[in-house]
Amino acid sequence: MSSSQIPVLESYESQHLEAAFQALNADVARRAAGLRTSEDREQFRLYWLGRKQGRLKLISDVWLKSAPAEARKSLGQHFNQLKQQIEQALEADPATLAPSTTPTDAIDITLPGIRPTLGAEHPLIRTMHEIVRVFEHMGYSVGVGPEVETDYYNFEALNFPPNHPARDTQDTLVVANQQNKPLRDRLLLRTHTSPVQIRTMERQPPPVRIVIPGKVHRNDAADATHSPIFHQVEGLCVDENITFSDLKGTLDHAMKELFGSAVRTRFFPSFFPFTEPSADVQISCIFCGGKGCRKCKHSGWIELLGCGMVNPAVFKFVRGKQPAYDPKKISGFAFGMGVDRIAMMKYGISDIGLLYSGDMRFLEQFA
Ligand code: DAH
Repeated sequence: MSSSQIPVLESYESQHLEAAFQALNADVARRAAGLRTSEDREQFRLYWLGRKQGRLKLISDVWLKSAPAEARKSLGQHFNQLKQQIEQALEADPATLAPSTTPTDAIDITLPGIRPTLGAEHPLIRTMHEIVRVFEHMGYSVGVGPEVETDYYNFEALNFPPNHPARDTQDTLVVANQQNKPLRDRLLLRTHTSPVQIRTMERQPPPVRIVIPGKVHRNDAADATHSPIFHQVEGLCVDENITFSDLKGTLDHAMKELFGSAVRTRFFPSFFPFTEPSADVQISCIFCGGKGCRKCKHSGWIELLGCGMVNPAVFKFVRGKQPAYDPKKISGFAFGMGVDRIAMMKYGISDIGLLYSGDMRFLEQFA
């Protein structure tokens, strides 16, 4: 214990006394602010008031005893004030000393709380789930497949032979540096969910009733109705005696479930390599009920999806792995619909880009 543990008192002049006690007062305040536990307090008490080691004892020994008579009064006052400050710090309610590890006094309960923002389904995902649910209720199961696909599954096994012009309708984004591979093994971003038809049939014999929601990519320039990324729900039903009537009945029911029971459907001849015959499905305009409006270009009908009876050529691609896909014994239908368009119709969204913008002002409207 030595006088180096207390501030240097240059002289007993009042300005030096003031400065020395100011430093001591500040030290007391700083240490008092750190008091948390009863051990802290005991340490604090010993540090200042300890009978042998305490700073006050030191001050009284070093400063008081050798003070000239004229400085004694002022020194005594400062000393008493310091002692009081220390005693008050020891008496204070621990909770009011300073923020403790549980800062009860640091919480201003009058402040409005921070409301956690609740997440919500994206309108696209919600629509996809709605579509899937309609088919689940009809006994369909749900499948998925890879977004990076081979040429074989995306095209060849769906009866798009190499160089077939139907490939041109699907502006394909291909993975770079694949030229050394045989065409069928080259990777691309799937242009539709139809390849999962083949993948599903390879894995299981008939009967198959499956819907496949997923993301697809095409090299389309973005505008109000096109996005290079969009979503489809694919459907496949294969069993004995599946007919075009089953296809019509299934899709007519699905459209009524999705858009309301007043909706009517009609089927037009179309072409897809993997279905024969193929059809485009139109529904009566959900905005004008079929009378004709701007949304349906005054036709009363809106084209919504493609479908058809599974082309026997497609079953042949599966047969090596699942002999049960014998086109003489089984038949099936398939369909594919764009989720983005359906979401846009259901929610009155005029620009497909909004679905991919991540703009909270847009998304919050669906929360
Ligand atoms: N894959 C087609 C497309 O993206 C949509 C489609 C049409 C799927 C007819 C089908 C189908 O399963 O039978 O344009």
